[in-house]
Amino acid sequence: MSFWKQFQPGFTCLAPMEGVTDIAFRQVVAKAARPDIFFTEFTNVNSYVSEKGRQNALERLKFLPEEQPIVAQIWGTKPEMFTETAKAIKDLGFQALDINMGCPERHVVATGGGSGLIRTPERAIEIIRAAKTAGLPVSVKTRLGYSKIDEWRGWLSMLLAENLDALTVHLRTKKEMSKVAAHYELVPEIIALKNEIAPNTVLIINGDIETPADGQKFIEQGADGIMIGRGVFHNPYCFEKEPKAHSRAELVDLMRTHIALYEQNGLSPYDPLKRFFKIYINNFPGASEIRDKLMHTREIPEALAILDEIGE
Ligand SMILES: Cc1cc2nc3c(=O)[nH]c(=O)nc-3n(C[C@H](O)[C@H](O)[C@H](O)COP(=O)(O)O)c2cc1C
Repeated sequence: MSFWKQFQPGFTCLAPMEGVTDIAFRQVVAKAARPDIFFTEFTNVNSYVSEKGRQNALERLKFLPEEQPIVAQIWGTKPEMFTETAKAIKDLGFQALDINMGCPERHVVATGGGSGLIRTPERAIEIIRAAKTAGLPVSVKTRLGYSKIDEWRGWLSMLLAENLDALTVHLRTKKEMSKVAAHYELVPEIIALKNEIAPNTVLIINGDIETPADGQKFIEQGADGIMIGRGVFHNPYCFEKEPKAHSRAELVDLMRTHIALYEQNGLSPYDPLKRFFKIYINNFPGASEIRDKLMHTREIPEALAILDEIGE
């Protein structure tokens, strides 16, 4: 059975998030409540193929066997680099590969990559074909269009005609960034288009979904899976099948786990770790004062000392 077909309708994915879904945070989410599928942060193919960037690319692609099923996400603009990187991803033990065609960040779009590919569909198609030559299942994660919502039909039709193994649609345009609500009203039409052009492609819906229960309506409409990104910041237990309340002590314990995993996996420097503290130290009396203290820490032992104080 192909990779994407092993999952039951309603399967869940943790969205790829640069600077967030690294090897440490993915293990935190696995401990809290596991999604069916993990994605890595995106890795640049230029980086992998260059001698200078390769080590960094390999660091980003590190995963543990128990994280399977995990999909490697890559981005770039040069088809031949996708072929080379896709081969390496297969050798690293990934069972599937995803191409980013949705990132709206200026430095990515300026290179023509991410959502920039929506404006160069011929190149996007060449990239998909090049990535497929490595023999791994290939999926694409994209947006509805570049600047106008009604680009969606033409753009997604072109992608679907490539017989992708899976397609994730973040229900916004590049121009909309994350500033407007996701266009849920389009889901039934997107499903109908997918069924007409590529009935075997697995369709994943993304955008503003906070829990699997939120996404259930899309599964009932005929989508295969849902993807949650920022919802995990609001609730690290968001993938729970039966949601329950979690105590302050549990959240603090999860934060300790995160810190330990950050160290164990050799991640550095310390400051980027602070961005996660709000996930755990939130929604209880005094949380903002504690967070403020944590933000002024300069190394892990100082943060752990503050957590010890909360425990007492
Ligand atoms: C901090 C951050 C980093 C992101 N990095 C990536 C990335 O590397 N690859 C990608 O395809 N999307 C990336 N995204 C977009 C998310 O995967 C997702 O499509 C978007 O957040 C919408 O889903 P949500 O409303 O569930 O968060 C990122 C989003 C955030 C907030």
